[in-house]
Amino acid sequence: MVARGSERASRLVLRPLTEDDQDEFLELAKDSVELHRPMVLPTTVEDFRVFLGRFGDPGSAVGLLVCVRETGAIVGNVNINSIIRGRLQSGSLGYAVFRAYAGQGYMSEGLGLVIRYAFEELRLHRLEAQIRPDNHASLKLVQRLGFRFEGVSPELLFIGGRWRDHERWAITSGVVGAPHPSLPRH
Ligand SMILES: CC(C)(COP(=O)(O)OP(=O)(O)OC[C@H]1O[C@@H](n2cnc3c(N)ncnc32)[C@H](O)[C@@H]1OP(=O)(O)O)[C@@H](O)C(=O)NCCC(=O)NCCS
Repeated sequence: MVARGSERASRLVLRPLTEDDQDEFLELAKDSVELHRPMVLPTTVEDFRVFLGRFGDPGSAVGLLVCVRETGAIVGNVNINSIIRGRLQSGSLGYAVFRAYAGQGYMSEGLGLVIRYAFEELRLHRLEAQIRPDNHASLKLVQRLGFRFEGVSPELLFIGGRWRDHERWAITSGVVGAPHPSLPRH
């Protein structure tokens, strides 16, 4: 299924994260440290370069910015990580809003656009978000977009210096056009 709301005209656009975004991204990330804790986005040039390097092979991971259509302002970021083709056709989501734009529906809309992009352009079949059980804003976000709860994985991700339990929430594409060429026929 394609996420609710993704078909109507959006006040937002997606674009890839590039090295030209470094200064603006670092300012926004520094301003949002408290909101993002215990998750950490890069706040130094060195960390930004490592982060950007994760998206060097678009077949493996894609780093996107959610921007206001009219002004170009960056409101948040969404990564499609750990892209696996073959019989899985899956990706793992990481996302964050920047402080000045939190709680205004930007990420509901932006993540909706990412889901549509992942299913229609990348032709993925499944997206998963791993969410800490106390991350209420993130849990509300994925539920609003139609993700389903699939279970809890103990000590799944290393965040803020320790391995933390995470809920797994996922959405699948249904049939949206021709399958990716790497999908086996049988
Ligand atoms: C998770 C996170 C991205 C959610 O961001 P957000 O700004 O709360 O999400 P949205 O943009 O969808 O905003 C939702 C809020 O806007 C309100 N809203 C206003 N206009 C809206 C609209 N047009 N559409 C949807 N919601 C709207 C909603 O009612 C909701 O408010 P509520 O929380 O009081 O119910 C953010 O909390 C964050 O960056 N957290 C830190 C990083 C993180 O935890 N990432 C996820 C790891 S799993």
